[in-house]
Amino acid sequence: MKKVLLILSSLFFSATISKSQNLLAIPDTMSGTTFNLNILDTSNVFYPGYTTNTFGVNAKYLGPTLFLNKGDSVSMNVNNQLMDTTTIHWHGLHVSAMNDGGPHMVIPPSTIWNPKFKVRDHAAMYWYHPHLHMMTNMHASMGAAGLIIVRDSTERTLNLPRTYGTDDFPLVIQSKCFDATKQIVIDNASDSVMLVNGTVNAYLPSPAQVVRFRLLNASSERVYNVGLQGNLSFFQIGTDGGLLDAPVALTRLRLAPGERAEILVDFSGKNGQTINLMSYASEFISAIYGALQPGMGAGQTIPGYTANVLNGADFKLMTFNVVAPTSSPVTTIPTTLTTNTPWSIGSLNATRTLTFMPVNMGPTAIQGPFMINNSHFDMDVINYSIPFDNIEVWTLINSTPIAHPFHIHDVQFYITEINGVAPPANMAGRKDVVLVPGGGQFIKFIAKFETFCDSMATYMYHCHMLPHEDDGMMGQFNVICPTTVGLKEIDSDSNDLVVFPNPASDKVILKFNSKEKIVDVTLYDLLW
Ligand code: C2O
Ligand code: CU
Repeated sequence: MKKVLLILSSLFFSATISKSQNLLAIPDTMSGTTFNLNILDTSNVFYPGYTTNTFGVNAKYLGPTLFLNKGDSVSMNVNNQLMDTTTIHWHGLHVSAMNDGGPHMVIPPSTIWNPKFKVRDHAAMYWYHPHLHMMTNMHASMGAAGLIIVRDSTERTLNLPRTYGTDDFPLVIQSKCFDATKQIVIDNASDSVMLVNGTVNAYLPSPAQVVRFRLLNASSERVYNVGLQGNLSFFQIGTDGGLLDAPVALTRLRLAPGERAEILVDFSGKNGQTINLMSYASEFISAIYGALQPGMGAGQTIPGYTANVLNGADFKLMTFNVVAPTSSPVTTIPTTLTTNTPWSIGSLNATRTLTFMPVNMGPTAIQGPFMINNSHFDMDVINYSIPFDNIEVWTLINSTPIAHPFHIHDVQFYITEINGVAPPANMAGRKDVVLVPGGGQFIKFIAKFETFCDSMATYMYHCHMLPHEDDGMMGQFNVICPTTVGLKEIDSDSNDLVVFPNPASDKVILKFNSKEKIVDVTLYDLLW
């Protein structure tokens, strides 16, 4: 009964403030091959009359959207102007461990980190955010994060909306807790305000045609059940790391922290209508953060959780005000998009099993901390050493009472099984986050650990619920370089092999003087 009253009062509240809707902020863009990113200790106005302390990247809250072209070599100048050390991780991008920006790649205050890498990723939306050990939630919640949109030749040839800010919009969905003076509070259970691109109570004039939205759940813990008012259907065209084979018609899209989805909405003929983008969290079964019951069974709860009006409720994320179409609108939904070719189980080199466990048993189990295979994250422990080029299947078993969004760096994976069953069509694309349901349920994925190896530098895998990550629900792996056993080192004094020119930029000549040798040459790029 108390719950019903709370939901009702929140409805009245949103009805009264709906007059003060705010135009959706669209992050600025940056393109080219050199990106200067200044992480700022700054302030923003979320509510008129209140100044909120924030972090931003070249901005007052969040950062610019970086447009990258597949195949380009880019250089990042990440200037940490915070009072605190931080890191910046390129979530979803396939880069070397040294450039990945995990917790070891610290950027002390007033210093610049300058990773350089080649863009090898498929067209999709990725993001950048801090990853400092035990501080990720705080730094990300304050706003030091932004989007990356990769373009490639496959995506470019499709008849899809792609004019940023006109028919192609990023939507960064976050829940937030503000105190009475509208300061950001890192109180995980009281995140009752919805922000889209940092805008409270946002509306967007959307042309009456096919419009593309790129969704990111950048919330610390909350899972959304995204849908359109009136059960209007939409089409998912992309997952975390690329396009799906074909658009998938949906009325609901579950989006866990860290996950992205690209959707097309056909607003044709709807000029003048107002359509809300919603989260239908009342439809969530138990044991998902955002459901009425966050755990399996009513006994499992989180302090402050029941008082939060968003939990188990249907609520608005933002509003689309449909306006006249643009001069060259996209009016059709394509029938095919790309061809995903997951690695086959027959090509497997190794399997690993990761079991999520609560530290505490009983009714407080759900409050964390959580462990993976009985261990907490340790900066000095490498949990797995993976041979270069391995194709592996990882089984994620969730023996805790709540679903956890598992994320792995370095690779994009394909889900092969959810509790023994193939994934639904909209989860069959390239992924780097997957929500693993609780109570002993499991998910399997297949991935290839290719391109980069490093005996020292590591990549992370972790829960993307940021308090869980900060509390140690994380591990690290490195990719071991191929052995050089049986390969004679080149004696520079001998004339057996001559390599020239040295250094070389686009062409290198190997000259062997002894004629009867059969040689096998493998080139490794140690820089990128
Ligand atoms: Cu988006 Cu390791 O994180
Ligand atoms: Cu978790």
